[in-house]
Amino acid sequence: MRVLSGIQPSGGLHIGNYFGAMRQHIQLQNEHECFYFIADYHALTGNPEPSEVTRRAYDVTMDYIALGLDTEKTVFWRQSDVPEVTELTWLLSCVTPMGLLQRCTTFKDKVDQGLSPNHGLFAYPVLQAADILIFKSDVVPVGADQKQHIEMTRDIAARFNNAYGEVFVMPRDYIIESVAVVPGIDGQKMSKSYGNTIEIFEPEDSVRKKIMRIVTDSTPVEEPKDPDKCNVFALLKLFAAPEELVRWEDRYRSGGMGYSEAKKRLAELTIEFFKPYRQKRAELQRNLDYVKEVLAKGAARAKAVAAQTIAEARRAVGLEA
Ligand code: TRP
Repeated sequence: MRVLSGIQPSGGLHIGNYFGAMRQHIQLQNEHECFYFIADYHALTGNPEPSEVTRRAYDVTMDYIALGLDTEKTVFWRQSDVPEVTELTWLLSCVTPMGLLQRCTTFKDKVDQGLSPNHGLFAYPVLQAADILIFKSDVVPVGADQKQHIEMTRDIAARFNNAYGEVFVMPRDYIIESVAVVPGIDGQKMSKSYGNTIEIFEPEDSVRKKIMRIVTDSTPVEEPKDPDKCNVFALLKLFAAPEELVRWEDRYRSGGMGYSEAKKRLAELTIEFFKPYRQKRAELQRNLDYVKEVLAKGAARAKAVAAQTIAEARRAVGLEA
């Protein structure tokens, strides 16, 4: 089974990214043929600062490798190193109804937030369809917010195959059930766009400081507290062993515990959890040439597959060599 997924390079990855996708991506590589890439073309729809674009791609690469991605086994590359995908985007655009894109909820949400959309943002799902179809992917592991994009991919693939013959494989989604919603330090979902993240590899001191700043209610120390309404407890669930978690639950409910006590323990557990990967991450940081080489090799492997599919698709629409 060929598994494929794209990762938005929004800078240093955070704890929400880890529990929401990275961990599952890394696990899947043991059982399947995995293709993962950094979606830097997609990121351009947000017009990032040019001096940040390449650095972000390297950061994501280092984070993934440090956390256990095996780049010998898994094909890992930067989307823009395989520009064949943009050619396929065009061929697919020509069978994609405007209405399909107009009904896309990720697009509508951004417009509702007051963003004045560029055409790239409107066409975003077609580029995503090209990513998936050019590698003849069977399964696409993504968060629930991406479900509609995968449905659109199937719709676009079916239209192309109907019009021009069976070029594309129908992919299916594999919705990564998040263990829980990972709250950020302000209690909203942890997300770069809310500025409430704790990055996996930020300095330990700064992890500690951020955890101490997590928003809690003002229940006095002596009173009982509801763990299910507490952001600190939601994060403890991710890091504490089951026996320890039961003890914390008990302490919350019986009163006499201040939130800062729970926060201190959370900081220790978080730092301990990622400690084994920190050294590897620091080594990679000192060896950027190696990181570049990994990406170059990944791009070559990805290109070999993409070039074949694009040749088939060109032939199918009548662009003979
Ligand atoms: N849109 C995805 C996200 O925001 C990223 C992405 C781009 C992707 N291309 C993809 C995911 C192809 C899966 C398959 O998370």
